[in-house]
Amino acid sequence: MIQQHPHQVRKNKTVQKGEWKIHNPSGSKRVIVTKELPGVRWLEILTGADCMVEIGTSTRILKTDDIQSFIGSHCDGVIGQLTENWGEKLLATLKNAHGKVYSNNAVGFNNVDVHAATGLNIPVGNTPGVLTETTAEMAVALTFAAARRVSESERFMRAGRFEGWLPNLFVGELLWRKTLGVIGIGRIGQAYARMMVEGHKMNLLYYDPYPNKALEEYITAYGEFLKSRGEQPVSCRHVTHIEELLEEAHCVSIHTALDQATHHLINAERLALMKNNAVLVNTSRGPVIDEAALVEHCRNHSNFRVGLDVFEEEPRLKSGLIDLDNAVLVPHIGSATMWTRQGMAILAASNLTAMLNGYPVWQCLDMLPFFSDDPPKAAPSIVNAKELGLPMHSCESYGNP
Ligand SMILES: NC(=O)c1ccc[n+]([C@@H]2O[C@H](COP(=O)([O-])OP(=O)(O)OC[C@H]3O[C@@H](n4cnc5c(N)ncnc54)[C@H](O)[C@@H]3O)[C@@H](O)[C@H]2O)c1
Repeated sequence: MIQQHPHQVRKNKTVQKGEWKIHNPSGSKRVIVTKELPGVRWLEILTGADCMVEIGTSTRILKTDDIQSFIGSHCDGVIGQLTENWGEKLLATLKNAHGKVYSNNAVGFNNVDVHAATGLNIPVGNTPGVLTETTAEMAVALTFAAARRVSESERFMRAGRFEGWLPNLFVGELLWRKTLGVIGIGRIGQAYARMMVEGHKMNLLYYDPYPNKALEEYITAYGEFLKSRGEQPVSCRHVTHIEELLEEAHCVSIHTALDQATHHLINAERLALMKNNAVLVNTSRGPVIDEAALVEHCRNHSNFRVGLDVFEEEPRLKSGLIDLDNAVLVPHIGSATMWTRQGMAILAASNLTAMLNGYPVWQCLDMLPFFSDDPPKAAPSIVNAKELGLPMHSCESYGNP
């Protein structure tokens, strides 16, 4: 559990200034947090490090100019959001304001020009390790919401159209013991694959430039365990051509990073390879799917179903998407559990205070020590640490290099 210490925060003075709230106005370092974050521990971390914390209270997405003007002539560090464009312009503004660190309040950082940040000697933080299971669970939720037509049938109920059980009412797809395709078998892809293989006894095909031997061994051992109990085993196979996965899988879930190679990885041609009654889920980043092609495909294949948490031009949806009954759409809430969102805020705040205090960078995968009463004196995750030659924190005492 993430500990809360509300009394410590309450005793700090808070001042409202337009759309910005200022905590600990007497702090010697000025830190900007562009959106209000859940929990209070992250704020304690910042104010405890003698920071004056200015928090944006508006729920609208801030434009580069808004953030630039707020940074002003002096700002030691910023916690920003993945909806903001942290390109060269904003990073240079931060540098000119004597800024020493930027942290995204997200694990992904495709909204940050890390190369420019490195050139400006600005460490860029992110928040890995607390989104994995939460986002994988959302992919599972979307998988079954799409396969079992949950959104469609709920709209039907709310419209007062339910007149009693019918043999053909909202018949969907059973995924138990079918073939699962996972694109990108990193942290979230792997967690999702295990939930689906262990929970629903699906056979796994995965596509990723890097084979995941540990996962293969795990699933093979799980298959042997099932066999030893007289049950049919499950299997796991790495494919080197995405086409093979798309043709064979009954359900495909996307978990890659977004880069030039994965932009429109799923396009009209590849959608055409999929089974007519397949389920496609995306909790990675919107532009991995050509959304216009997806709308067209769903229009022409009513038994093809999709579950989407992310969109190509967020928050705008491609024309026609909203009218599709075979699409389950949620507003980028993959990481939205209280535990995860509080954890992200704590990691982002710890990135800032560690860099402002000259601490080294944490190398372990386990982020839980940062939620303890005695957190490590380290920055949880700085994506350009190596390029900047930052010192690394030894993991020996935590046993997780
Ligand atoms: N919906 C949300 O709220 C939410 C939350 C967290 C993360 N994400 C997104 O989920 C994705 C996965 O996050 P993660 O933490 O598991 O990342 P990760 O870096 O652990 O895993 C990404 C995987 O994609 C693989 N990959 C890279 N290029 C590929 C390609 N061309 N084809 C196939 N695989 C490729 C990598 O080898 C890696 O295994 C990221 O895009 C991230 O931004 C979304």
